[in-house]
Amino acid sequence: MWPPPEPDCRLHPAVEVRPSPIAGEGLFTRVSLPAGTAVSCIGGRLVPGNELRRLLRAGAGYVDTITVTADVHLVLPPGRPNGKGNHGCDPNLWWSAPYTLAARRDIAAGEELTNDYATSTGEEDFVMPCRCGSPLCRGSVTGNDWSRPDLQRRYGDHWVPDLLARIHASRRPRSSS
Ligand SMILES: C[S@@+](CC[C@H](N)C(=O)[O-])C[C@H]1O[C@@H](n2cnc3c(N)ncnc32)[C@H](O)[C@@H]1O
Ligand SMILES: [Zn+2]
Repeated sequence: MWPPPEPDCRLHPAVEVRPSPIAGEGLFTRVSLPAGTAVSCIGGRLVPGNELRRLLRAGAGYVDTITVTADVHLVLPPGRPNGKGNHGCDPNLWWSAPYTLAARRDIAAGEELTNDYATSTGEEDFVMPCRCGSPLCRGSVTGNDWSRPDLQRRYGDHWVPDLLARIHASRRPRSSS
């Protein structure tokens, strides 16, 4: 069982929202960040799928959410800058704990902070054309990318809990009974 999230989000004090060459606004660091530095801790409340669908239908503004398990979703409090992180196909952040994005490598001052959305969502119908500009750009990100062996190798255990559980389950030999 994963621990409950904190009630609110936390962001590294040197990280700010700025216009992004990738899309709209993004997160940027004013200082260099060594590999492993915790950058963004996502907090909020856990809701079941039916409650999330009700919130999305209510149309009370954009709902920031990540999937925790198949029917449990973390909904961030509204307006938190943590939700401004853009996707990158060769990201400089990755999941280091169930609710924490940390530096995947040393990051220079001024760099945009990106994470690979494939490590956060397994929604079957999720497809996003990608303009991250990386030489490793996949052109689009989908809710099935978690099943790609190249991404599984690249990210190791650095996935949200639900996707890590799916990856482990997909590797278990099937019982013949
Ligand atoms: C969580 S928001 C990120 C913040 C957003 N750029 C903004 O200005 O509010 C996710 C949205 O940003 C855009 N986006 C993020 N990364 C992208 C990428 N690599 N390529 C194209 N669009 C991207 C998509 O419109 C996506 O639905
Ligand atoms: Zn890309």
